[in-house]
Amino acid sequence: MKQRVLLTGGAGYIGSHTYVALVEAGYDVLILDNFSNAARDVPKRLAKITGHEAVVVEANVLDRASLDRVFAEQKIDAVIHFAAFKSVGESVRKPLAYMQNNVVGLVNLMQAMDNAGVRRLVFSSSATVYGEAVELPTPETAPLSYGNPYGYSKLVCEQIIEQTVASDRGWTVGVLRYFNPVGAHPSGLIGEDPSGIPDNLMPYVAKVAAGELPILSVFGNDYPTPDGTGVRDYIHVVDLARGHVQSLAALERDGQGHVVNLGTGRGYSVLELIATYARASNRDIPYKIAPRRDGDAAASYADPSLAKKVLGFEAQYDLFDMCRTSWVWMQNSAETAE
Ligand code: WQD
Repeated sequence: MKQRVLLTGGAGYIGSHTYVALVEAGYDVLILDNFSNAARDVPKRLAKITGHEAVVVEANVLDRASLDRVFAEQKIDAVIHFAAFKSVGESVRKPLAYMQNNVVGLVNLMQAMDNAGVRRLVFSSSATVYGEAVELPTPETAPLSYGNPYGYSKLVCEQIIEQTVASDRGWTVGVLRYFNPVGAHPSGLIGEDPSGIPDNLMPYVAKVAAGELPILSVFGNDYPTPDGTGVRDYIHVVDLARGHVQSLAALERDGQGHVVNLGTGRGYSVLELIATYARASNRDIPYKIAPRRDGDAAASYADPSLAKKVLGFEAQYDLFDMCRTSWVWMQNSAETAE
């Protein structure tokens, strides 16, 4: 019997790629999204990639009644929870909105799940919970902290999950700490939503390469790193999506939860990413050195060994693949925007 998985935020960047990976792995998938941070034509594009109609419920995880209705009307075996705000900068400006959406949203979801007897969950967390990582590469046993309301909301969610699992009502939960998700599906049909001025490096570089933005500001070149610019563990979103399928399978197989990093274990600097993107897009990428950005760590990259041991997860794509697929998506989404 096919397992049926509900993806909250399933029309978003990571959610839509995970939808494809789950369908290709033989799961039956339902998307729940309020489209606050996802284009409304994503389900149509998912249908093009997978070959059949995506089942979508438009709802907000803050609306408890609608969540209860979904669990009452649909057979659901497990949930992957993506629906959350994820901008560090925005969280500093709107901390209460982040606590409400990210923390109350999770509590609402887990209560609706518990009431319906659905207690298998994969939770989208972030390496942000390591704060300014003191240990590199960073293992899951590294001290947890937070440097902004977004990171704090993820930390609180992890602790709510930990206490719920300890209540011994039969919950099995996979907590996945993403490092820096980038890139796009090779079809060029789904990717990171290109609207507005991106906070993150890769989508910003993509827009400079496409000529939509004039120049990239490199936030600091005086860090204690090989070329002085920030080092991050970029992971291809298609690898990340596969990690969710492996997490779900591990919960089913092992009957117990896990907390794992999803990263490659390899750090790349800002200048390395710029050079790789230029090669992958065959475009110049003008940049200037600018002051450091508040809250930025010099370097962050995962110790990926536990994910390999527990899930069998290993990233397959390299930085060139990440840049190449980002560029194909950038060109396609520019064409469809015309
Ligand atoms: C990467 C590097 C910047 C933009 C954030 C969140 C994290 C996760 C991923 C949600 C840094 C430099 C950036 C620019 C630059 N999000 N940079 N110029 O900050 O590592 O992680 O996004 O889960 O939680 O914290 O990613 O892409 O913003 O920055 O020089 O215009 O690029 O200084 O060294 P970050 P990023």
